[in-house]
Amino acid sequence: MSAMLIDGKALSARFREEIATDAQSFEKRTGRKIGLAVILVGEDPASQVYVRNKVKACEQTGVASYGYYLPKESTTEDVLELVNALNEDEKVDGLLVQLPLPKHIDEKRVLSAVSPLKDVDGFHAVNAGNLLLGNECLSACTPSGIMELIATTGVDLCGKNAVVIGRSNIVGKPVALMLLSKNATVTVCHSRTQNLKEITRNADVLVVAIGKKEFVTGDMIKPGAVVIDVGMNRDEGKLYGDVNFAEAKEVASYITPVPGGVGPMTITMLLKNTVKAANFGQK
Ligand code: GUN
Repeated sequence: MSAMLIDGKALSARFREEIATDAQSFEKRTGRKIGLAVILVGEDPASQVYVRNKVKACEQTGVASYGYYLPKESTTEDVLELVNALNEDEKVDGLLVQLPLPKHIDEKRVLSAVSPLKDVDGFHAVNAGNLLLGNECLSACTPSGIMELIATTGVDLCGKNAVVIGRSNIVGKPVALMLLSKNATVTVCHSRTQNLKEITRNADVLVVAIGKKEFVTGDMIKPGAVVIDVGMNRDEGKLYGDVNFAEAKEVASYITPVPGGVGPMTITMLLKNTVKAANFGQK
């Protein structure tokens, strides 16, 4: 058997068309563009690429982007001052601080300073808490993208066993909550989990966000499972997922490729959150 590919690039392109339409009608209605501010501290090469791609995606969809590039020596107070100013700035609807921050900066304080109404990453405790409670919120982008990708398969999550490998605040924990909200039976595995294979072999839906190249092999997958690979592991210039794709595609029913699966959805969901945040401002 060979699994069907879940095409994140195509879904992302479709969503971006809708976002561009929404951005245009917002501009017609208000006389200004929707705005996204991005703060990057330091020169981490991967972060520079992510930020560049976010700015490019804004240009593509008619969202104004405001990039703030602070030197790596900046203090927590410097970053907080900028965040506070952007919280007050009326042309800024969405505001994000690219992670990771340099080690000497207090990440928790910085993320807490972002207005929850502009927190398009969904990292603020208010948004994370509202996700937990099942309330309307700005939710984390990669997990939201994963849920959209699963939805394209037509597989009903109700009563299914969903297994998440990885427990980060950015992906593992929020996606577990989203799967639970769709009535899946959710198990969260991590680096200390015992008998991992036993658990994953029982997964109807397997989400892998562990950050280890080709960690999940074919024998860890239940025949017919939906496999979502969140991995972005660079090795000698090539991008690898957390799943051994060649093996997994022979066992799974649906699988996301790397690249072209989850990756393209993250920035698209960021733009979708920015449109949502802009419309909060109109209420
Ligand atoms: N670093 C890695 N992923 C992300 C993300 O989704 N948002 C931000 N702000 N930083 C990140």
